[in-house]
Amino acid sequence: MTAQSPAIEVVDLTKIFDGKSVVKHIDLTINRGEIVGFLGPNGSGKTTTIRMICGLLRPDGGSGTCLGYDILTEAAEIKRRVGYMTQRFSLYEDLTIEENLIFVARLYGMKNVRKVAAETLQQLGLTSRRKQIAGTLSGGWKQRLALAACIMHKPDLLLLDEPTAGVDPKARREFWDEIHELAEAGLTVLVSTHYMDEAERCHRIVYIAYGTIVARGTVPEIVEQSRLTTFVLTGREAGAAAKALTGAKGVEQVAPFGSEVHVVGSEPAALRAAVEEAGRRFDVAIEPGETTLEDVFIRLMSQAQALEA
Ligand SMILES: Nc1ncnc2c1ncn2[C@@H]1O[C@H](COP(=O)(O)OP(=O)(O)OP(=O)(O)O)[C@@H](O)[C@H]1O
Ligand SMILES: [Mg+2]
Repeated sequence: MTAQSPAIEVVDLTKIFDGKSVVKHIDLTINRGEIVGFLGPNGSGKTTTIRMICGLLRPDGGSGTCLGYDILTEAAEIKRRVGYMTQRFSLYEDLTIEENLIFVARLYGMKNVRKVAAETLQQLGLTSRRKQIAGTLSGGWKQRLALAACIMHKPDLLLLDEPTAGVDPKARREFWDEIHELAEAGLTVLVSTHYMDEAERCHRIVYIAYGTIVARGTVPEIVEQSRLTTFVLTGREAGAAAKALTGAKGVEQVAPFGSEVHVVGSEPAALRAAVEEAGRRFDVAIEPGETTLEDVFIRLMSQAQALEA
C-alpha cells in the first residue's frame, strides 16, 4: 500500500441477485481525506456497493482496491482498517453503553478492550452513564455512540450507511460536524444518505440509480451537468398553475417547495413559453430560479426509471 493510493478504487463492479443485476459496472475512485456522499433512490444499490467495497460481499464482476488492498483477496486487511456503520443497525439495544463498546472492541480484535471502551466513554462524555441500557438513549446519542464504536480501532476509512436516518436535525448537524473533524484528521468517508442538506455537506457526491452511477461531482458541478433550467412560481394560484403545467410541453418536472413551485425543464425556450402561458392564465409571480440539487436528483431518478422500464 502506498500513501498515494486512493482510499477506494473500484472498476466495473457488478453484483447480480437472483438473476438481476443490482449493481452494474460501477467505477468509483475516492481520494484520501474526501467526504463523499452516496445518494440514490431506495434499492438503487448503495448498500450492496458499500458491502462489496469493504470485502463483505463478493462482486460478480469487476475488481478494485480499498485502502490499497484487493477487495477480492484481502478482505481481512480491509476490515481491520475500515469502520463500517451498517444501515438500520447501530448497537445492541439490550446491552449497556459500555457493553456495546466492549463488544465492538472485541469484534475488531483489539487489545485492552476495557481500557479502550473507558477512553471512548470519556471522549463521549458518557462515563457516568456507562451502565445505561443503550436502547434507552435518544436517537442522536445512539448514532454518536455507534460512530464512536466504529472508530475505536482507528480506521482509515469510514463507510457509513444512512447513519442519521430518523435522527433529528440538531443531532444530525452535530454528527456531521464530527464527520468533518474526522476527515480533517485524515479519515476518508463514504456516506450514504437520503438527506439533501447532508449531501451538501459532502466534498463530492455520487448519485446512483438502478445500479448505475448517473451523476458525480461537487454540488455546483452536478447542477451544472444537469443543464436544467428552473422557474419559481409564487402567489395565490401557484398550486393551480403547477397543476396546469404538469405534463405541458417543455416542462419536465413540477415540484412544490413550501409556498413556491419549481418548474424545471431542459429546453429553456420551451420551458419559458409554458411558464409565461401559465402566468397569463393564473395569478402567479414568475421568477427565474436556481436549480437545486433536489431538482436534479428528482430528474435523474425519473430518467433512470424511464430507461429501466
Ligand atoms: N441479499 C440480497 N438478496 C437478494 N436481493 C438483494 C439482496 N440485497 C439487496 N438486494 C436487492 O438489491 C437491490 C439493491 O439493494 P441495496 O440494499 O443495495 O439498495 P440501497 O441503495 O442500499 O437502498 P436503500 O436506500 O433502500 O437502502 C434491491 O433491489 C434489493 O432488493
Ligand atoms: Mg441501503
